[in-house]
Amino acid sequence: MFKETLLLTIAVLGGTGKEGKGLAFRWARAGYRVLIGSRSSEKAVTTASEIMELLEGSSSVVGTTNQDAAEQANIVVLTVPYSAHRATLESVKDALKGKLLVDVTVPLMPPKLSKVQMPPAGSAAQEAKEIVGEDVEVAAAFQNVSHEHLLDEEEIECDVLVTGTSKKARADVLKLVEAAGLTGWDAGPIENSVVVEGLASVLININRLYGSKHAGIKITGVPTQSAESA
Ligand SMILES: NC(=O)c1ccc[n+]([C@@H]2O[C@H](COP(=O)([O-])OP(=O)(O)OC[C@H]3O[C@@H](n4cnc5c(N)ncnc54)[C@H](OP(=O)(O)O)[C@@H]3O)[C@@H](O)[C@H]2O)c1
Repeated sequence: MFKETLLLTIAVLGGTGKEGKGLAFRWARAGYRVLIGSRSSEKAVTTASEIMELLEGSSSVVGTTNQDAAEQANIVVLTVPYSAHRATLESVKDALKGKLLVDVTVPLMPPKLSKVQMPPAGSAAQEAKEIVGEDVEVAAAFQNVSHEHLLDEEEIECDVLVTGTSKKARADVLKLVEAAGLTGWDAGPIENSVVVEGLASVLININRLYGSKHAGIKITGVPTQSAESA
């Protein structure tokens, strides 16, 4: 789907929020051009400036609307609450044709955040695939990575399980995982996203019971390998 990683533009829809801002920061730090998408271009411009300040101006981060970000980007990452998932995708779906959508959404349904509650499609990522249609590759990733340390240098003790509609889509997202300074694993077809999204509620439950803020997961027993050889 893409070859020249450093020339790629990544749109982060809902990039003004906790998770999206942190991921945007990490990809900008790795040399990608990043577009922060928002319902409000003013809000997006503010977030983009904050990220540029953290990076001391050496990278390219631009704030704009979700629609404009989706149109300009090669890869579109969705980081909005589940309550806004469908409406956001419907609003940008024409701009996604021929592109890769990376869904970070966890289908949390307040108030029971620590209980797994999947939508009828099976998972948020499968629902996204139903909404955007055949012309869009969909992958799901980062659902288990807390935003807590995305904006700082502290090591994040959480692997990233990547599911997606094709091996190529998963391989492309594994490159983004690596660029974000994390270890990723090809976790198989998009149907497997139900497990990964469900794990987020398990981690929320552990955080609540054990007084932590960023419980994570690690795959053990397998030698770390590159995305290419997986
Ligand atoms: N936070 C975490 O640690 C974490 C970890 C893993 C996965 N996730 C998942 O990542 C997604 C984003 O989480 P978050 O904590 O970053 O969320 P958030 O900060 O609450 O919201 C992210 C952005 O979504 C947009 N948004 C909020 N309500 C909306 C609505 N009703 N309609 C349209 N857009 C709306 C807002 O952007 P604008 O106002 O600028 O449009 C907001 O800045 C969620 O699905 C979450 O489950 C989060």
